[in-house]
Amino acid sequence: MALTRREFLLIGTTAGAFAAVGVVVPVALTKDGDGGGGEAAVVGLFPRMKVASLSSLDTGDPVFFDYPLEGQSNLVVKMGEPATGGVGPDDDVVAYSNLCTHMGCPITDYEPDHRLLGPCPCHFTTFDLSRDAQVTLGQATQNLPRVLLEVEDDDVYATGVLRLVYGFSNTLVGAPAVA
Ligand code: FES
Repeated sequence: MALTRREFLLIGTTAGAFAAVGVVVPVALTKDGDGGGGEAAVVGLFPRMKVASLSSLDTGDPVFFDYPLEGQSNLVVKMGEPATGGVGPDDDVVAYSNLCTHMGCPITDYEPDHRLLGPCPCHFTTFDLSRDAQVTLGQATQNLPRVLLEVEDDDVYATGVLRLVYGFSNTLVGAPAVA
């Protein structure tokens, strides 16, 4: 998948400013994780923060957390089947910003049978969390920002964010950091 203009700007800006410490890594976008990506994210600039324990995640029951800044709300959810970017033994744990890419309203309704986040309470956009949070219905035109995850033993860590969070021209600037 090609980079969107916003993703290119994010990478270009932050990588240029912090090339000495940031690392640009490819992000696989296929469900089986065997490549076919083409997107990239700058990690190393982001804090590494524990967001959940695998053993505490119930399938279909999201947990909400702010990352990397206060007010940048996200959810982590165990989906019960492999998903794009999924981590864990079943490749089914994903995390996304829950701030709608249309106008930033927080979305808290998750429908586990169809793995859909939404509808957004403002204008009803719905996102498919099994497919990189693509828009399935509504006003938004961009996927939700994906929180990059790593698993170490039973712990799930956030390590970066792919795509810009609504309302922020830089995901790492504009509010106090949470970690
Ligand atoms: Fe979510 Fe408009 S803010 S659809």
